[in-house]
Amino acid sequence: MTENFFLTGNTREEQYVSLLPQLEALIDKETNLTAILSNVSAALKQQFDFFWLGFYLVDNDNLVLGPFQGTVACMRIAKGKGVCGTAWEQATSQLVPDVDAFPGHIACSNASKSEVVIPIFKMNNVVAVLDVDSDKYNDFTSVDILYLEKLCNWLSTYF
Ligand code: SME
Repeated sequence: MTENFFLTGNTREEQYVSLLPQLEALIDKETNLTAILSNVSAALKQQFDFFWLGFYLVDNDNLVLGPFQGTVACMRIAKGKGVCGTAWEQATSQLVPDVDAFPGHIACSNASKSEVVIPIFKMNNVVAVLDVDSDKYNDFTSVDILYLEKLCNWLSTYF
């Protein structure tokens, strides 16, 4: 199964177009959220080699670290704090070309230079966010938002 997971595409858009159906096939009938988010994290890492990516899950007043790929990260983020907490509070995706220019950015690693955070909704409430960090400035565009929102919209059915 996993050995059939393949990486294609020259542009990032082509890579997303190739990856998303493969992810749906990979997850197939699995229902365990930890297993699903873990393999989605690994697949995104394999395809794009992002510096850090992972899920934070809403737990009462905090986002709590979930499945991820990358270096050790902060485990709890309060609502409205940092890029993740802002995505949660505002219930909108956040595109941050330069993390140093984002007021209140939480630096889990100094290597992170740009970031995108996508909320995941269940019954119109944010239940989690997907956080993707790059070690390059300006590494994300509306293409990333478009396809990562599609991914998160699909993932919301498993929450
Ligand atoms: N930079 C994020 C914190 C999470 S780490 O990047 C993994 C933020 O400002 O919310």
